[in-house]
Amino acid sequence: MEVVEGNEKMAEQWTPETWRSKPIMQVPEFTDKAALADVENRLSGYPPLVFAGEARLLKSQLADVADGRAFLLQGGDCAESFLEHSPDNIRDFFRVMLQMAVVLTYAAASPVVKVGRIAGQFAKPRSSDTEVQGDVELPSYRGDIINATEFNEAARNPDPERQIAAYRQSAATLNLLRAFAQGGYANLEHVHQWTLGFLGEGPAFEQYKELADRISETLGFMRACGLNSDSVPQLRTTDFFTSHEALLLGFEQALTRVDSTSGDWYATSGHLLWIGDRTRQPDGAHVEFCRGVKNPIGIKCGPSLDSEGLLKLIDILNPENEAGRITLIARYGADKVEGHLPQLVRAVKREGRTVVWSCDPMHGNTVKASNGFKTRPFDLILSEVRRFMSVHRAEGTHAGGVHFEMTGQNVTECTGGARPVTEADLFDRYHTHCDPRLNAGQALELAFLIADGLKRERADSAPDVQTAVAGF
Ligand code: PEP
Ligand code: CO
Repeated sequence: MEVVEGNEKMAEQWTPETWRSKPIMQVPEFTDKAALADVENRLSGYPPLVFAGEARLLKSQLADVADGRAFLLQGGDCAESFLEHSPDNIRDFFRVMLQMAVVLTYAAASPVVKVGRIAGQFAKPRSSDTEVQGDVELPSYRGDIINATEFNEAARNPDPERQIAAYRQSAATLNLLRAFAQGGYANLEHVHQWTLGFLGEGPAFEQYKELADRISETLGFMRACGLNSDSVPQLRTTDFFTSHEALLLGFEQALTRVDSTSGDWYATSGHLLWIGDRTRQPDGAHVEFCRGVKNPIGIKCGPSLDSEGLLKLIDILNPENEAGRITLIARYGADKVEGHLPQLVRAVKREGRTVVWSCDPMHGNTVKASNGFKTRPFDLILSEVRRFMSVHRAEGTHAGGVHFEMTGQNVTECTGGARPVTEADLFDRYHTHCDPRLNAGQALELAFLIADGLKRERADSAPDVQTAVAGF
């Protein structure tokens, strides 16, 4: 009976707008419905931001991650902002992602799939619909694609025109990312030189220097063998993909198109879309939307998701058990990993579902500093990743990836690290529009620290130059 019901459900007809008849969470109150419809209509005539073939390439790379043959690095802003849209920000973010990828590629001796939370990561779910300051209550800030951060009525009123601005910003960001990825900026030797430049003096950096030296040696060896960026194009280009939370469904629908090659529907707002922890109701609008597009889909797995609920979601979103389709992004908080993750890992394994397991060590580790700032201690972030990896080691499954909120700038939003950010430093450069992000140094440091765990996972401890080169 169960099975029949399930099949009927899956066979229910899907179109890009079937989500509109489902219960929906986290939806902004647009006062001018005609203006919203007009914006969605205009967006639906604009060019796609990404192409179906690219989403398929990412899916095939994620299939390798699911199979234990690659590692996923996903990272970027909690919320992109209109104000911080600059070429330097994009370049610096891209640079630190590449630096992390080199360290992780070397440590895992396997390709690292690089996915940015960028070029579309604008809409935010909020724990409360409204914010109260003094005796004034206004709608919560929901990301620059919806309203503005300033605390006044005009700023907080959702404005549909912001979707056009977000679309255009995403297009410009992607344009630069594509140029960086393919135009020589991603040159492996340069990326490694930047990393050497980052490493400071003193005991805090010793452990990283050792690994960095081994990478230098390997690059030297490769050069001696005639493998350099002139002779091997893979050493100067890379694949880079975009992702965001599929939250603002009117926007997503407007950018959902039929791929002429396959006849399938694809969301063209980004390569990978994920479903947030607050909007993953199996009968809800967000799951309905995502089930019909063929992109790779992420699912945030927080403490309220049990194994039965997870299997149900996987059934709806990936009935054919296609490899690379589902990335499960565990986000518990360091001290909650062991209490939740093992049962999900076991259930997924028992039922033979193919997934990528990734770890978001950010969203369960947000704390309030004594001076009132929302922050995330570096040690808790590292601890969640390590615990995630130990669970997978114990279960015999692949710890497939990590998911960070980070920026290429030297912000002071998360505490800790080898060049420590203290609680007092939070006053200095706390720029995020939403959650606290790792700064460039903290993000790279995490890559070095995670590298240890990856080395342990792989059976063969000798660096496999061929795989590492092909994977960068
Ligand atoms: C996020 O990734 O920014 C986010 C809101 O995460 P979650 O849905 O896991 O809370
Ligand atoms: Co966030």
